[in-house]
This record gives sequence, C-alpha cells and structure tokens, in this order.
Amino acid sequence: MRVLVVGSGGREHALAWKIRQSTLVDKVYCAPGNGGISKIAECVDVKPDDITGLIGFATRNKIDLTVVGPEAPLANGIVDRFCVNGLRVFGPSKEAARIEASKIFMKELMRKYNIPTADFEVFDDSARAKKYIEGLEGNFVVKADGLAAGKGVVVCSSNDAGVSAVESMMDRRDFRDAGSRILVEECLEGEEASILVITDGKDCVPLASAQDHKRVFDGDNGPNTGGMGAYSPAPVMTAELMDSVMKDIIKPAIAAMGKEGARYTGVLYAGIMVTSAGPKVLEFNCRFGDPETQAILPRLKSDIIELIEASIDDEIDMARPEWDERPCVSVVLSSGGYPGDYETGFEIDGLDALEKSKDIYVFHAGTKVSEGKTVTSGGRVLSVTALGSDIKDAIDRCYNAVNLVEFEGMHFRRDIGHRALKR
Ligand code: AMP
Ligand code: GLY
Repeated sequence: MRVLVVGSGGREHALAWKIRQSTLVDKVYCAPGNGGISKIAECVDVKPDDITGLIGFATRNKIDLTVVGPEAPLANGIVDRFCVNGLRVFGPSKEAARIEASKIFMKELMRKYNIPTADFEVFDDSARAKKYIEGLEGNFVVKADGLAAGKGVVVCSSNDAGVSAVESMMDRRDFRDAGSRILVEECLEGEEASILVITDGKDCVPLASAQDHKRVFDGDNGPNTGGMGAYSPAPVMTAELMDSVMKDIIKPAIAAMGKEGARYTGVLYAGIMVTSAGPKVLEFNCRFGDPETQAILPRLKSDIIELIEASIDDEIDMARPEWDERPCVSVVLSSGGYPGDYETGFEIDGLDALEKSKDIYVFHAGTKVSEGKTVTSGGRVLSVTALGSDIKDAIDRCYNAVNLVEFEGMHFRRDIGHRALKR
C-alpha cells in the first residue's frame, strides 16, 4: 500500500514514522515534509493548502491512502474533494471539520446537546462585545470564531485586556475573517488534558491520554504557542474521569454531529479542563494534536493503518489498540524568539548521536536538509521524545537527549511533565 501524509510538522513526522512500521505499507510519501521526514519517506513539493496539487499527485502516483495532519486543508474540504476523485482519505469532511473551524458552531453544538463546556456569549459587533466585557468581573476568555493558527484565544485577567483582544480581532481584523465574530467565555479553572479518539461516525476508540504545555516559558508563563511539549498518559485522566469524558463528551459529540447532518469521521480531539465540577470541553480539534501525537504514537503497539482503515470502513467497533504501559515525554526545541519573530538557517548538532539510542525518537518540525546538513527552518524545530520506565525516568531520559542537541538560539522548557511528577 502507498500512503501519503499531508503536512510538515513533528506530528506528521511521528505519523510517517508510525505508518512506515505497518506491514501493510510499502511506501510513504509526505507533502511537503521536512528534513527529518525526508530520511524515512519521499517528500513531495506540494503544499497542504494546494488541494488540487495533492489530488494530482495522489492520482498520478496511485496513492492508496492519504492521512491529513493539519486542520486548514480539512476545513477547506480536502476530504470531500479526494472522495469525489475516488481517492481514499482519512479525516472529517469540510462540514464535519467545522467542529474546529468555527468555535461558535462548536459551542452552539455543545449547548444544544448539553455537552459540558464553559458558558459563553457570541458577538458580531465590536461595540456590543466591549460593552459586555466592561461589565464582567474576574477572568474571562475572548476567542476568534475561525482558525487563527492557535493565536485566536486570549485568556484575560482584566477588562482592558479583553477590550484590546476585541480591538485586535474585530476592529483591526488581525486574523482576517476569523475574527468577524467572537466568543466571550467563562474562564475555567483546573488541569488540562487532551483526549483523542478515532471514530467512524458511529463508534470510537480512544487513544492514550496526553497533556500539552502551551505557554512558551517554564511555569506556564509567557505567550501561548502551538505546544512546547507533551507527555502520555496524563495522570489527571483517571479511569473514572476517562469514562465520564467518553460518556458525557466524546460519544454525545459524535452523535450530535451525525444528527446535524455532519457525520464525523477521523480523529476527534477534545481539549478538556478537569474542573471541580467535572471535565468540561475547552475546544474540539478535527485532527491529531501537535505535540501530543509525538508522545502518544511511540506508545501505540498496534498497527496505526489498521485503526485508520477501520475508521474509513465503519469498523472501528472492532478495533482494540494495544498500548505500551511505559510513559512517553516529548520536549519541543524551538528557535529563539518563537512564537514571535525568529531567525532560521542554523545548523543542528547532535542528531547523529541520538539516531541509534533505544526508545529515544527525534521528530522534526521546522528543519530542512541543506548541502547535506540539517538546519533550522521554522519556529518549532524538533520534538525530542523518550519512553521511560516511569514518568520520572521518561523525563530524565528525554532531557538527557535534549542536552545532546544544539543550535544557535535554541529554546526549550525545562519543566515538561511537572504536573505528572507532582502526582
Ligand atoms: P484553545 O485554542 O481553544 O485550546 O485555547 C488555547 C488554550 O487557552 C487552552 O489550552 C487553555 O489553556 C486556554 N483556554 C481556552 N478556553 C479557556 C477557558 N474557557 N477557560 C480557561 N482557559 C481556556
Ligand atoms: N497541541 C494543541 C493542538 O494540537 O492544537
């Protein structure tokens, strides 16, 4: 079988790596891929948003299955267009991807079907939004309705911060049309976890739980990023809480999408806040998480292609994925300055030494190979990942590996896994 992975991040490297292990797979392509992916798959110079180009490539090269990493092509209907062209693809339709592409759609769905989430108000007028915010007490959250590359959420601890967020989103249109409507949400308190399931639209199987670290600096300080590290499992997700997330959140959400005429297939990712009143949804994503996937897939003992095929063929109720009991920790190494401005093109040292280390995996994101050397080419550069006998061992092994890698301006958090350690 010939498989195409769409995307270029650490998530896609982990997917390509896991897909390549499948006995069902002969060849893996990745569009466009990165420096690390180019060592395990054939990289193809087509961008994830060039759906016509991807269809052309998949048709010409007799691709049997396409796995889409990022949300933007899903929201733009890549799955619908592949299907029309007779190509097999894993992921939700454009209509179903609205669960991530429109936060207002997502929140109204949850309100209609009684899925626990933060209370919210919707605004399409900036003056009304600001007036409402000026009357609020305590913390609250302002969110752009549409996709904003992870930057459309502002947790506000003052009314002024809320008004500035509205000015940025609605008046200045910093996220273009994504900010033409906004949400103002109750601020939830608690510990976060990411629960990903694979679904065929009827049934679903959960993947191992994970926890992300969104802020750029230690102690959860500084601006939000795409994610600075993750570990799996997330000890906050006890078996009892996991049952409640499946019963009260995931299964009702999949059923609700079906009732709304937007049958949901692929990966459904629920960002959960474990509050004193139980688990509540922060957000749904229509895809694998990044960097959660880098911490989850090394623990998956089963063949990922079998899970993906079961989702496409409506047979996910038959799937029983098996997991390595050992925890996995993944630390993101980023370019200095990320998530703001940063420079690229710096040579990365130390990668060779890690290649043969057992239970250590270096998933690449912003890297490319230039004149035989691997150099930085993006904000998040590498996800250095380790399995360990327990969470402390996994953290120690991961940071020992991180300490062998070096590039100019390299930044990483030194406290990935701190919450799990405290338990
Ligand atoms: P999102 O992109 O919606 O996941 O939001 C990014 C991050 O903002 C989440 O991981 C949370 O840390 C935070 N966040 C979003 N919504 C809320 C909320 N209602 N209460 C508290 N924190 C939130
Ligand atoms: N790790 C957060 C995300 O994938 O959206």
